Amino acid sequence: MQKVYVRSLFDSIATRYDLLNHLLSGGIDFYWRKRAIAKLQKIKPKRILDIATGTADLAIASLKINPDEVVGLDISESMLNIGRKKIAEKKLTQKIRLEAGEAEQIQYETGYFDAAMVAFGARNFENLEKGLSEMHRVVRNEGMICVLEFSKPNAFPFKQIYFFYFQYILPLVGRFISKHREAYQYLPDTVMKFPEGNAFLEKLQQAGFHSVTEERLTFGIATIYTGVK
Ligand SMILES: C[S@@+](CC[C@H](N)C(=O)[O-])C[C@H]1O[C@@H](n2cnc3c(N)ncnc32)[C@H](O)[C@@H]1O
Repeated sequence: MQKVYVRSLFDSIATRYDLLNHLLSGGIDFYWRKRAIAKLQKIKPKRILDIATGTADLAIASLKINPDEVVGLDISESMLNIGRKKIAEKKLTQKIRLEAGEAEQIQYETGYFDAAMVAFGARNFENLEKGLSEMHRVVRNEGMICVLEFSKPNAFPFKQIYFFYFQYILPLVGRFISKHREAYQYLPDTVMKFPEGNAFLEKLQQAGFHSVTEERLTFGIATIYTGVK
């Protein structure tokens, strides 16, 4: 999806983003982020990059594994501003820094981070392959990538319930609360198109990662992917 479109979309829903996120997922998104962070624990990362950090929930969750420095990048200033407020209120400014930046061109030197992660953001990249290869570049050798993204359940009856919810209920509630006509139609549309399972693991390998893994969560509504540089 075009960056200008994505930026203006997230700029316009930023103030309602957290509320809608937790409401539409029934709060399960906190648990998903926690699971994703746990995957990085084995390498005890000290420098972590959170791409498409948005309002910084994943960056904040990553403090659980005790990094020294967490950098969150995003193309939407409005999302970053909400995240900055949250970080200041929680007195976490010593550890987490949010900066404007884009996945396809990361302003950090090669090998700077021990781990790079992205939650519900890869789907929005203008260029997925470029984003993943930039994440590969800025991670040190033996460092890790962790991607948390929506996927689609395939077993009865979850598949049917999910599709009904995602195609009909979610866009309706999203439009009502966000007051944005397209944003929550955009969400299911991007999920339907996004590569998942083996297709996404192949993308990680093409970007240069090895030892790739996937874990499907909550009947397959979301999946955590990891890889090693
Ligand atoms: C659905 S939100 C996810 C936010 C956060 N990671 C979370 O878990 O709630 C997607 C975010 O990706 C950002 N984004 C989209 N394309 C991007 C890109 N190419 N580079 C950096 N950020 C991007 C958007 O501005 C938005 O804040």
